[in-house]
Amino acid sequence: MCGLVGYIGKNLSRAPIIKGLSRLEYRGYDSAGFACLNPGDNRLVYVKAQGQLHNLIKQFDQKPIDGHIGIGHTRWSTHGVASQENAHPQFDCYKTLSIAHNGIIENHHMLKEQLMQEGHLFSSQTDTEIVAHLLESLLQIHKKLLPALISLVNQLQGAYALVIILQAYPDQMVVIRKGSPLCIGIGQQEMFVSSDLLAFADITNKVLFLPDQSFALLGKELLELYDFSGAPLLPSIQEVDSAWINVDKNGYEHFMLKEIYEQKGAIYASLAFFRSISHQIWDQVGLTSEQVKNLESIHFLGCGTSWHAARIAQFFFEKICLMPARVMLASEFRYMPFFAEKNSAYIAISQSGETADTLEALRLVNSMHIANIALTNVASSTAVREADGFLLTHAGQEIAVASTKAFATQLAALYWFAHRIALEKGIINLYQFETAQEDILIAAEALENSIEKYKKIIVETYAPYYAQYKKFIFLGRHISYPFAMEAALKLKEISYLFAQCYPAGELKHGPIALIDAETPIFLFSSLDSLVYQKLLSNAQEVKARKGHLVVFAFEGQKELIQLADACFIIPTVNPLLAPLAMTGLMQFFVYHIAKVLDCPIDKPRNLAKSVTVE
Ligand code: G6P
Repeated sequence: MCGLVGYIGKNLSRAPIIKGLSRLEYRGYDSAGFACLNPGDNRLVYVKAQGQLHNLIKQFDQKPIDGHIGIGHTRWSTHGVASQENAHPQFDCYKTLSIAHNGIIENHHMLKEQLMQEGHLFSSQTDTEIVAHLLESLLQIHKKLLPALISLVNQLQGAYALVIILQAYPDQMVVIRKGSPLCIGIGQQEMFVSSDLLAFADITNKVLFLPDQSFALLGKELLELYDFSGAPLLPSIQEVDSAWINVDKNGYEHFMLKEIYEQKGAIYASLAFFRSISHQIWDQVGLTSEQVKNLESIHFLGCGTSWHAARIAQFFFEKICLMPARVMLASEFRYMPFFAEKNSAYIAISQSGETADTLEALRLVNSMHIANIALTNVASSTAVREADGFLLTHAGQEIAVASTKAFATQLAALYWFAHRIALEKGIINLYQFETAQEDILIAAEALENSIEKYKKIIVETYAPYYAQYKKFIFLGRHISYPFAMEAALKLKEISYLFAQCYPAGELKHGPIALIDAETPIFLFSSLDSLVYQKLLSNAQEVKARKGHLVVFAFEGQKELIQLADACFIIPTVNPLLAPLAMTGLMQFFVYHIAKVLDCPIDKPRNLAKSVTVE
C-alpha cells in the first residue's frame, strides 16, 4: 500500500523517482509528493498534489525542483482524507526533515499528544507527520542521527516502511522497515529505495530486501545496516531476475485488457514451470515426501481474489486428494481460535506476496511450527521469504488493480498441485497426472477461445446494454459459487456497480425477493450433472418471476441456454476446471461494462493492488 521511492547518488533524483512512482501507482494513487535537497544550499524543497501522479508532474512546470537526494510517494489514505496537506512527504516543525511512509503508526494518538505538549505544530491529519516531529525532538535530545534513530524505532508501534531525508545530513538517506516491505537497489554510485523493486528493476538487479525490524543509512556509495537495538547487520545483497518485468501496455487501452489476453500464455508458462520442478517439488514447497503422504488436511489463507481462488481450490483438493480442505479469509484467521491439526499444511495464496493480512496469518501459522507454503506470483516477495516453502505462478507482472491473469494462474497452480499431492499419495497414477496437466491446457484454450467468440457482441451489444443497470445478482452453485463471487467482485471493483452474489440454492431463502426488472441475474453454470440440474431449477425460479437472466453455460446445456435472456456458451472442459474456462469471458465482459461507463479501469477509486496494512 502506497508507493515509496527514494534516490541518493551521482545523478539528479527527480526523474528516477517519478519513473519509479509511475510504476508503483498501483499501490495507491489518491495523492502524490516529491521532496529533495536543493543542490548547493541543501535546503529541503518539495511539491505535493492531490490525485494521481500526473497532477504532481504538472506542478514541476511552476516549481522545477531537483536534487541528488530525494524521496517520492503515491498515497493510499489510511489516516486523513486525500488532500495536499495529507500527501507525503511529511515534515517536522521547521521543514528541515522530510518523511515518506507506508504502513500505520498504531500509537500515533499517544505520540501526537505528547509532541503537542512539547509545542510541536502539526499541519496534517496523518500518522506519518508524527514520525517527523518525533525524530525532530529526538535529534534535539541525542544530537546525533544514530542514537536518535534507535530511540525512534523503539517508540513507533505498528507496521511501517519509512524513507527520510534531512537537511542536517545531506549525504545520507535513512530507510526503516518494520512489517511493510522495503528494498534497496544498489547501482553505480547511486542507491534506490522502494516498496517494490519494480520501481528500479530496469536500472539494477542488485537488491537488498531490508530485513524486518532494521534500518539503514544510505549514501551514494554507503550502505550501513542496523537492527533496532543499533547493532550493525551484514547486508545480504541478492541478484534478482527482473527479465519478466514488463510495464508496457503493448498497444492495449488498459493493462487489465492486456492481462486478460495474456492468460493463456501465463497458464502455459506456469504449467511448463511446474512440469520442470515436478521432481524437486517437495524441496521447493518445504515438505518431505513422507509429510505429503501423511497429509490429512489442507488449509488455505488469502484475501480478495486470492481468497476466491482458494475457495475454488477447496473443491480440487477434496475431490482429487480426498482430504478435507478449509479456507479462511486471512483478515479473519488471526482473530479466530486456532486448532492445530496433526499432518496438516497451510497454503497462503497471494498474487503480490505482500498483503499484510495474508502475511500476518502466515506468520501465525509459522509461529505454531505448522507446515506452510506461499503460493504467489512474485519470487522476491515477503511471503516467499517467510514461508517454509513456496510455489510460484508465472503470470508475469500484473499491473491492473483488478486481478485477472494472477487468478487464472492460481487456479492452474492449485489444480496442478492437488494432482501432484494425489500422485505422491498414490491416489492417482502417472497417466492421470499427465491427463490433468493436459486438462489445464484445454481449459486455457477454452478461456481464450470464448473471448474471441463473443468479443464482437460484448463490445457492440451486451456491454452498452448491461452498463445501463445499477445493480446485479450473481449466482453460482458448488464450484461455480466462489467463481460467481469473483465475478461480482470484478464488476464491483472496476465499474462501481452493485453486485450481490449468492449460492443459487439460497435464492429461494430470501434473495428471491430482490428479483425485478431492474436487476439482471448472472448465473454461472456447472459441468457436474447433478449440480447442473439443481442450477436449472434455480434458473427456472428466476424466470417464473420474470427475472432477466444472463447465463454462462457450457456446450450441450440446452435447457439452461433456452431459459436465458442472454447467453454465453463455453466449450466443455474437465468439470473442476469450469471456473478457469469461464474466467476470460467473465473478465472481458465486466471490463467492457466498466469501459462503457468510462471508469478508470486500471486504477479504480479507493483501491490499491497491494494492501500492506491490516
Ligand atoms: C487487494 C486488491 C485485490 C486483491 C487483494 C489480495 O485488495 O485490490 O484485487 O485480490 O488485495 O491481493 P494478493 O496480492 O494478496 O493476492
